[in-house]
Amino acid sequence: MTDPQADRVVALEEWKERWQENRIGFHQLHVHEMLKNNINNVLAGRTGVRFFFPLCGKAVDMKWLADMGHSVVGVEISEKGIKQFFEENNLTYSEEPVPAIPGAKVYKSSEKNISLYQCDLYSFSSSIEGRFGAIWDRGSLVAINPKDREKYATLMMSLMDKECRYLLLTFLYNPELYKGPPFFVPNEQVHSLFGDSCDIELLQSVDGLTEKHRGWGLDYLTENAHLIRPKSN
Ligand SMILES: C[S@@+](CC[C@H](N)C(=O)[O-])C[C@H]1O[C@@H](n2cnc3c(N)ncnc32)[C@H](O)[C@@H]1O
Repeated sequence: MTDPQADRVVALEEWKERWQENRIGFHQLHVHEMLKNNINNVLAGRTGVRFFFPLCGKAVDMKWLADMGHSVVGVEISEKGIKQFFEENNLTYSEEPVPAIPGAKVYKSSEKNISLYQCDLYSFSSSIEGRFGAIWDRGSLVAINPKDREKYATLMMSLMDKECRYLLLTFLYNPELYKGPPFFVPNEQVHSLFGDSCDIELLQSVDGLTEKHRGWGLDYLTENAHLIRPKSN
């Protein structure tokens, strides 16, 4: 079967418009259940872990992890989303340019260890903030344009340190019924993207179909949590 979503493109401007018009149905007011359920497996007993949040939006999960003593680096194209994150969580912040990324700014919390880069994800690299001990990928691989998945996976793997534990959420649904985003990402593709250099474990699989998804025309929706770790040599 050919993937009916393969050529779908959502431009950066469209994401910014969504924020301007408050069409941000992806935002959740509470810490994601699948992060809470799997956090012990992500931390593996470690404290002070450096978390990376690709396409972070204003996810409250960032504050939750920072409150536990971890540090967070996120990347988000919407300045409005970044400012709302700090304001809605009652955090003061500073704002400065990022010389290595023309046009980018970094917003840093004064109280918590949270730095959010306002730029295109693909201009970010390990030369900016080093590598990370954990990645929380919710609404990110499933949100990027399907044709960019290999570039995205290469970037994620370049940001993982040797001990990194990358928690990835994907959706399974019938792509003939909804155009996305979020896009459907089959488990086989998770393996083809990351499997050469990483071990992949399916930690949790839940029926995630809600009234919202029925409204999109979907008849089933499965949410999968994968744990991705660099293969040890
Ligand atoms: C589906 S939302 C998920 C946000 C967040 N992870 C959450 O769980 O609420 C995707 C976010 O990625 C941002 N975005 C999309 N493409 C991007 C890109 N190439 N670089 C940086 N941000 C991007 C959008 O503005 C949007 O806030």
